[in-house]
Amino acid sequence: DLPTPVMAIESSCDDTACAIVHADGQIMAETTLSQSGHVPFGGVVPEIAARAHLAALPDLVRDTLDRAGMQPRDLGAIAASCGPGLIGGLIVGADMGKGMAIALNRPFIAVNHIEAHALSPRLPGVASNGAPFPYLLLLVSGGHCQCIAVEGVGHYRRLGGTIDDAAGEAFDKVAKMLGLGWPGGPAVEHLALEGNPHAIALPRPLMGRAGCDFSFSGLKTAVAQKLPAEVRTALSHPLAADIAASFQQAVSDIVIDRLGHALGMMERPTTLVVAGGVAANGMLRARLQEFAQTHGLPFAAPPLRLCTDNAVMVAWAAIETMRARREAGLPIPDDIAMRP
Ligand code: KG4
Ligand code: ZN
Repeated sequence: DLPTPVMAIESSCDDTACAIVHADGQIMAETTLSQSGHVPFGGVVPEIAARAHLAALPDLVRDTLDRAGMQPRDLGAIAASCGPGLIGGLIVGADMGKGMAIALNRPFIAVNHIEAHALSPRLPGVASNGAPFPYLLLLVSGGHCQCIAVEGVGHYRRLGGTIDDAAGEAFDKVAKMLGLGWPGGPAVEHLALEGNPHAIALPRPLMGRAGCDFSFSGLKTAVAQKLPAEVRTALSHPLAADIAASFQQAVSDIVIDRLGHALGMMERPTTLVVAGGVAANGMLRARLQEFAQTHGLPFAAPPLRLCTDNAVMVAWAAIETMRARREAGLPIPDDIAMRP
């Protein structure tokens, strides 16, 4: 009896996305556009991102409705990522959603982008055990790097996070130093396949320390120092692959060490979950799987399209929020007046 299907909009960074999801988690349609205008700049440019969302969203919304075979009036509620993220893009997506909600006389649900990542493993079919609360979430992307105890809908405890760069940011910066393109994560992973992960001694900042904070800037600086000048231009240099492999090894070692500490900071979790673009990294995934097995925990990694920024997770977070409020005897939220 929840007002669904929910149409959700995601525009917090460089992906413009729209999805329509039913109360039971059935995905009626999903579309994601990855903006290409940032490539020449080697990173996301906020102004370019906001203008690209503005240009793309109306067609994307129409297209998503068409694919679902629906009219706007068939929607039960509208949701959008309303933060954290790049403010220009957030305003574009949130105001589009609010406008639709007002025109259709439906509730508008403001979704926290991190909460949407955090609840994504509970989408039916993603985790074999359904990811019951509490679970341990590792969120690793270009913008985020944190360990979160997910204890219930609306109940998240940040156990630790990066004190400087996000993991994906470190991958992107190392890629830049090696003369690879942007985004750098996939390129570094590819190059690392040909390298020796133990060839270059690199530091593992904060490893072994109490808590589960992360730090990658010292590692990044160490890579820069190990890099002979000619490697920056000559990708064919044998050292480039060794550096990529050794860097990837160091990041994985750090993540596994930090997760070991995170486990001791919460009630025994039901599941280890990873989300965010860096979760695409095959070596990291394998290490996480092994770590989970060692600790007797089921491991869940959403498929890549649900790991990176997407609108399905935003719709699902809205559905979980509505359901939790209903169960608590509270009204369905209507955040039209909320200020981004
Ligand atoms: O979640 P995402 O698509 O966007 C946000 O940052 O929110 O994550 C993108 C990040 C980029 O930094 C990219 O380099 C990294 O994820 N990434 C990877 C891999 N694929 C993407 N990092 C390491 N290995 C990969 N295979
Ligand atoms: Zn994200």
